[in-house]
Amino acid sequence: EHTQVVVIGAGPAGLTLANLLRQRGIGCLLLEEQSREFIEQRPRAGFMEEWAVRALERHGLAERLLDNAQRHAAFEIRFDGERHILSYAELTGHHHFVYPQPLLVADLTAAYVDGAGGDARFGARDVALHDLESDRPAVTYTDGRSGRAHRITCDAVAGCDGARGVSRAFLPAGVARHDYGIGWLALLAEAPPSADGVVFGIHPRGLAAHMARSPHVTRFYLQCPAGDDVANWSDERVWKELHARLTVPGGTITEGPLIEKQVLDMHNYVVDRMSHGRLHLAGDAAHVVAPIGAKGMNLAIHDALLLADALTAQLRDGDGTALAGYSEAALRRVWQYQEFSQWFAEILHGPAAEPFRARMAQARLRRLFGSRAAATAFCELYIGKDADW
Ligand code: APR
Repeated sequence: EHTQVVVIGAGPAGLTLANLLRQRGIGCLLLEEQSREFIEQRPRAGFMEEWAVRALERHGLAERLLDNAQRHAAFEIRFDGERHILSYAELTGHHHFVYPQPLLVADLTAAYVDGAGGDARFGARDVALHDLESDRPAVTYTDGRSGRAHRITCDAVAGCDGARGVSRAFLPAGVARHDYGIGWLALLAEAPPSADGVVFGIHPRGLAAHMARSPHVTRFYLQCPAGDDVANWSDERVWKELHARLTVPGGTITEGPLIEKQVLDMHNYVVDRMSHGRLHLAGDAAHVVAPIGAKGMNLAIHDALLLADALTAQLRDGDGTALAGYSEAALRRVWQYQEFSQWFAEILHGPAAEPFRARMAQARLRRLFGSRAAATAFCELYIGKDADW
């Protein structure tokens, strides 16, 4: 079997890429380890930046999203008993669109498979890459249902298989990694949201965060020690800490049954180079940013847009310039978002750290609340506007 591009992984990166290649008449085959039902249900990220939504809209991939996503214009910081609203839409002209990743994945899968008749193979096991430095690379996999082995030759491989995928291992690049040394206890409560959007409770006992999910479900986070055990977090302790860190006069939180508890280890990493021979990575396969500024899904889409253009220029027009520059172009935004997340994390976690870091965080907060110029610069990065320096 032969095709032009084998795309590994049907997440936001792989599906955006596969749709765009298909629209442009580039031969494409999408390989996904899980079933279609599974990826359309798996809970994941949910915040999309406006430029990403508009890019999908331009390619006819955002119809259901635009009908159903909630638009957020502001978020709130609670600190020292006071409420501060940062109205990023007013300061930047851009919104966040709250749209759970499984819905986006379902839309993009429907557009690629049902709408465009694209070739997608779900339940693909033992995916391996071969001859990436030759001009005829190959991908092998086993069909999970029949147990049959397949080999596909191609012109390029797109590794879009996320943080736990196999593609990255075939790329001999270094990885820059940063560990925050703390955890976030991620919680889902069957409770209506207590505020319209995102609320950060910045507190000497550690961060607490509130994120509206749906009319009946709310996500909460609590900063905790790295590697903490959920067994240490009884429902009673969770609510006690959420109230202590988030409740301020005029802003309380609504309780409800906790339906998910999970400790996230907060870290970031970025590969040195996203391309090697005929292999190109996109999304979490190449870089992970801790969920501090809700950046992951947006970066995955950004990579896919760039890679789609670069592969089209190479495979349709014979112009390899964009593909040669793909890694550098994609990493520019990745590093802006990494730096932003790191800077913001210091505000969120600093007040619970030693006095020097705590005082620095307070100085940053005062600047953010007191200076319109500082707030605008912050919000442009928070919403991802103009981040390609
Ligand atoms: N073979 C085939 N498919 C694989 C393999 C493999 N060996 N390993 C993983 N996959 C699939 C996963 O099942 C998943 O569907 O690759 C897909 C990767 O999707 P994501 O993890 O969603 O990654 P990406 O498209 O880069 O999007 C990043 O994911 O975790 C969130 O916050 C993150 O929103 C961001 C987004």
